[in-house]
Parts: sequence; structure tokens; C-alpha cells
Amino acid sequence: QKENIRCLTTIGHFGFECLPYQLVNRSIHQGFSFNILCVGETGIGKSTLINTLFNTNLKDKKSSHFYSNVGLKIQTYELQESKVQLKLTVVKTVGYGDQINKEASYQPVVDYIDAQFEAFLQEELRIKRSFFEYHDTRVHVCLYFISPTGHSLKSLDLLTMKSIDSKVNIIPLIAKADTISKNDLQKFKSKIMSELISNNIQIYQFPSDDETTVQANSGVLPFAVVGSIDEVKVGKRMVRGRHYPWGVLQVENENHCDFVKLRDMLLCTNMEDLKEQTHFYHYECYRCRKLQKMGFTDVGPDNQPVSFQEIYEAKRQEFYDQCQREEKQLKHRFMQRVKEKESTLKDAEKELQDKFEHLKRFQQEEIIKLEGERRKLEEEIIDFCKTKAASENVQAQLCANMRKD
Ligand code: GTP
Repeated sequence: QKENIRCLTTIGHFGFECLPYQLVNRSIHQGFSFNILCVGETGIGKSTLINTLFNTNLKDKKSSHFYSNVGLKIQTYELQESKVQLKLTVVKTVGYGDQINKEASYQPVVDYIDAQFEAFLQEELRIKRSFFEYHDTRVHVCLYFISPTGHSLKSLDLLTMKSIDSKVNIIPLIAKADTISKNDLQKFKSKIMSELISNNIQIYQFPSDDETTVQANSGVLPFAVVGSIDEVKVGKRMVRGRHYPWGVLQVENENHCDFVKLRDMLLCTNMEDLKEQTHFYHYECYRCRKLQKMGFTDVGPDNQPVSFQEIYEAKRQEFYDQCQREEKQLKHRFMQRVKEKESTLKDAEKELQDKFEHLKRFQQEEIIKLEGERRKLEEEIIDFCKTKAASENVQAQLCANMRKD
């Protein structure tokens, strides 16, 4: 195919050499967005590092150690450097590693990352999409803060990183690296890297097409960082640093810590790559898993390409058939229930009828019995009246005879 394309040498100026400038101008006009997820124990220095990275004081309250669950704090900031505007979203864990049972500590982090992918996928699947105004909240990088124990990674670190390594670019950091000596730090770094490899945890791979970047970043991971929002006087200069009884640790001094390397790597060299990796690798994986779960596929059982339309029609038919089946089952169950109810009602009716007949018979017998007693009573009354009249006659006769005497 390549042979069929003619290669022409242009004579004169056409203007398409300005294409890169068009892109730059449009990007500056649109502004950039970058989303950072900071995962680490409470008080490990997440806020301080973000403030140091962006040389600001993004106000934030200290978290408590007594949350029963891990939560996430999401804050979005608009930053500007020269003409470039950056919409920065910082998501920080709250209460991470503070619970006695740490089993579910990583779940809110996993859920958050998935929810951002899902929101993007939903926008993508909409008929009327508005990507121009859409605030893409997919996590571009996860800064994982490792406690400066000097020993090894904790099981929670391994568990969390393992559950998110296929969803986000992980950059491991040794937090508060000023608390470890230089010798211990190198051993700690090697130990962490070997543990990550032996547990098959994928961390962010620096682009290998740029030789200087590779050289600059090789052997640095995990970055040993120190954060500070305080300015300290060193000689005649004011620098960001931490003041100790024995001297000053300068955050931006590469002999003191890896902060500058991290900042350069994150903001100067690889920000665009982190975003691309998020979109073209992690999001693609999520999208692929999700669509496969919904039954979509690119090839059929015969390895032939299947059109989206065909799968959609088949799925719709399958769904329709299932609905029909369920409706039929429901109707059948309903009819059965009606029949059962009808038969119980009939039984109850028969029972009531029998009871009524029985009561009716009993009542008739009682009426007959009472009628007989009434008749007997009337005859007795008549007899009584007759006896009474006869005795009155006799009494009257006796009285008349006595008066005559
Ligand atoms: P929560 O958001 O409350 O979980 O805390 P956090 O992880 O954001 O920690 P934060 O930045 O609030 O720092 C907690 C304490 O650690 C503060 O007193 C900081 O001054 C101190 N701190 C931060 N970074 C460093 C560091 O690099 N070295 C040392 N020694 N202390 C640090």
C-alpha cells in the first residue's frame, strides 16, 4: 500500500507546518485537566506533598484516626502557570489503614476508580455527547504513599496496589523520606521494588522512547519524597524545606530527596503520557471488560467479525424472549395461586353451608320442642282456670249457705 503513495517534495509555503502551533493554541485555550489520587495512611503527608508539588496552600483540615470506614476526599482546584490553566482534581483517602479489620480498606478506592470509568463510558454511549464540556474525572495517576518503616511493604499496601494496578498508573512514593538514613533508604527502595515484582504488581512504566527520561528515572523508584509548605532561610535564599536542630532539609535539593524528580516526571515530562495511558490502556481494559460482560464481542464463535448491530439485535431478542418466558411463568404462577385460593374458598364456603344447615336443623327441632311445651303449658293453664272456676263456684255456694243459716 505504501508503494502506491506518491511522495512529493513541496515547493513553497503551504501552511500545514503550523499544525503543531494550532494544537498548542487550542490546548491553551481549552485548558488542561489532571486528576491525582493519593492513597496513604492518615497523616502520612499527602496534603503537604500536593501543596509542595503545586507550590500552593490548598487549605485542608486534618483527618481523624477514628473513622470506621475508609472514605475519599475530593477537591478540585483551578491553577494557572503563565497562560496555561490546569483543572486539578485531588482525591485523598481518609481513614486509610486506621481500622482494626483492614480487609475492606481498598474497596472504596477501587470503587471510585471504576465509577469514574463508568461515568465516562456512559457519556461515550450517549447519543448526544458533550465531551467538550464534560469534566473527565478518570484518575490519571495514583500516588501511593508508603510508610517510611525501612522494613518492607505492609500487606495492606500489597493488597491495595494489586487490586488497582490494572485500573490506574501507580507511582509508589516513600513518604517522609527524611526519617530514613541514606543507606537504609537505598536498601528500602530495593526491598520495595523486589516485593512489587515478586507480587506481580504493575506500577507505571516510564515511556521508553525518550532516552533522557529513562536515564533520569532509572533507579529512582519508589521516589523518596519530603514535603513542606514552610519557607526556610538557607544562606541568602528562602527555600521550601524542613528545619531540624541539626540543619535544613531542602525539598528541592536533589541530594536531599527525590521531590524534584517526582515533580519533573509528573508535571513536566509525563503528564500527557499518564493521561494517554489512562485513556488508551486502563480505560480500554475497563470498557472491554464491561462490554464483554454485557455480551458484546468483536468476533463470533467461528472467528468471523460480528457487527455491533447484530449483537445488539440478538441481545434485544434474547432479552425479549426472557421477558416473555418470565411473563408466562408469572401468569402460570398467578393462575395456580388463583386456583389454590378458589379451592380453599370453596372448602370454606362448604364448611359454612354445612354449619348453617346443621344450625337450621337444630333450630327447627328446638322450635318443635318449644311448640309442644307451649301447647302443654296452655292445656295446663286451661285446666287450672277450670279448676279455679269450679273452686270459686263451690266457695260462693258455701258462703251463700252460711248466710242463710
Ligand atoms: P490527612 O489528610 O489528615 O490524612 O493527613 P495527610 O496525609 O494529608 O498529612 P499532612 O500533609 O496533613 O501531614 C501530616 C503531618 O506530617 C504534618 O505535621 C506535616 O508537617 C508532616 N509532614 C508532611 N510531610 C512530611 C515529610 O515529608 N516529612 C516529615 N518529617 N513530616 C512531614
